[in-house]
Amino acid sequence: MNGNKIKQELKIPRHIAIIMDGNGRWAKKRLMPRSYGHKQGMERMIGLLDHAYDLGVKYVTVYALSTENLKRPQAELDGLYDLIRTRFTAAMKKVCARGVRLKIIGDISLLPKDVQTIVKDAEADTESFSGKGLNVALCYGARQEIVRAAKEAVAAGEEITEESLSARLYTAGQPDPDLIIRTGKEKRLSNFLLYQSAYAELYFSDK
Ligand code: FPP
Repeated sequence: MNGNKIKQELKIPRHIAIIMDGNGRWAKKRLMPRSYGHKQGMERMIGLLDHAYDLGVKYVTVYALSTENLKRPQAELDGLYDLIRTRFTAAMKKVCARGVRLKIIGDISLLPKDVQTIVKDAEADTESFSGKGLNVALCYGARQEIVRAAKEAVAAGEEITEESLSARLYTAGQPDPDLIIRTGKEKRLSNFLLYQSAYAELYFSDK
């Protein structure tokens, strides 16, 4: 089936969110280091993003690093940071070239300074784009996001309502995800987009 036919026959979600799990196990099965799994996972993700925007998906959110992941051994975190150092800028340039606005969601002050600069610069490069979005969740946790939104609303003297809270989430102004996909066999949300996923369909892949 060609791309146009698929678009006609499928109801395309506006927003897909992806929990990219299983990189480490994938690599282990191939007797390779976990860092190889992360590298391959990232390349796979870039291909998937191209495909999703081709099909007409407007927003994609990728769970790249959770607050929980920050407790991993420093060597593994350093591998992930190196992957961002060496690959992130070019990868985001490629994905966002079609007018996708990049947004980093999460507390990036927890990242090494040079990595913060890399991701902030990539975000700034897409500032003028609108209509299509890519959220990369780094040092992200949904509970922290909700608490932060509530604190901001209170500090601004706002009444806490569904709308006032939504407007202060990282995803403010974007449609809620219609579909959340998790790879790697486990069937849970792991503190990902808890507020926004109220009506999302969940798809758990064994791959
Ligand atoms: C989960 O697999 C994956 C991660 C913790 C890191 C994923 C991040 C990247 C590949 C880098 C950034 C990517 C983008 C798109 C900016 P796991 O290690 O938990 O696998 P396991 O469950 O098999 O141990």
